[in-house]
Amino acid sequence: METVVSGIRSTGNLHLGNYYGAIQNFVKMQNEYNCYFFIADLHSLTTHPTPADLHGNIKQVLVEYLAAGINPETATIYIQSDVPEIAELYLYMNMNAYLGELERATSFKDKVRANPDNVNAGLLTYPVLMAADIIIHKATKVPVGKDQEQHLEMARTFANRFNRLYNKDVFPEPYAFNYSENLVKIPGLDGKGKMGKSEGEGNAVFLSDSPEIIRKKVMRAVTDSGPTAENQDKPVEIQNLFDIMKVVSSPDTYNHFDNLYNSCQVRYGDLKKQLAEDIIIATTPIREKINDIANDAPYLRQVAKHGAIKARESAQRTIKQVRETIGFRSF
Ligand code: TRP
Repeated sequence: METVVSGIRSTGNLHLGNYYGAIQNFVKMQNEYNCYFFIADLHSLTTHPTPADLHGNIKQVLVEYLAAGINPETATIYIQSDVPEIAELYLYMNMNAYLGELERATSFKDKVRANPDNVNAGLLTYPVLMAADIIIHKATKVPVGKDQEQHLEMARTFANRFNRLYNKDVFPEPYAFNYSENLVKIPGLDGKGKMGKSEGEGNAVFLSDSPEIIRKKVMRAVTDSGPTAENQDKPVEIQNLFDIMKVVSSPDTYNHFDNLYNSCQVRYGDLKKQLAEDIIIATTPIREKINDIANDAPYLRQVAKHGAIKARESAQRTIKQVRETIGFRSF
């Protein structure tokens, strides 16, 4: 059976982009593959969270993974920092990751531009840690959103380079995976790029947002003054709303508003109201579970412990082989 790995950075509440870009695939995949899903808390250290924030964010992501339908009996769900073998593999992989290729990564360049005062080595080698996350379980399928494609390409490069250096087929090639034809990108509500926590207040709809907050955020989404010619291309901020509608609403609803747009009869107020209600319908079952799970400390403790044990079994097998391959052998 093929092995699947994916992680979500522990930066706090999950949003619709996390859900439709990744978690929905996780929930389907867990019944078909050998799945490892983890909370990427090591990755989140690049931005220096306080200890209390870090802990709270890890808990929130764990709770929301479970509320969204990941079954800890079927999939292995764990916290990255509970598996020290990942950090060890990251160290080995760093020896064959080159400055030039790391500096060329789009995500690195974006981060440098956004935070020129915090260009740390962890940020530079983020794709190496991500590769270690994946190849530690010898995974071949990685359910991620479109923005992660370049990181997957780098993971293949690092895995192949290791195999070539030691002339041994230790790691298979991992590929990005999605059930739909294209990798999904959920845009934000600010009329610009993708939905994200760091893109500003109101841009993201969180799984934990109440219906009132969802309505407020959607009604405030950026729009233009309306179409002026039939069948004209939609400007990005309008296309974004339609893109979200495509995943949360029925095809009939989508087509209804698309037709209104194309005949210049669309009323954005109506469109947003419908969109907000459909987001509420899609997220309510998850939101209702979030509180219950968050208050069940013994259950969370048991899930984290069980996941760490299962993940370490797999990680230790790989690390043993890697150490022997490199030449760390016992006397
Ligand atoms: N970089 C991913 C993101 O930002 C999170 C991540 C870290 C990840 N390690 C991973 C995803 C390994 C898949 C596999 O979304």
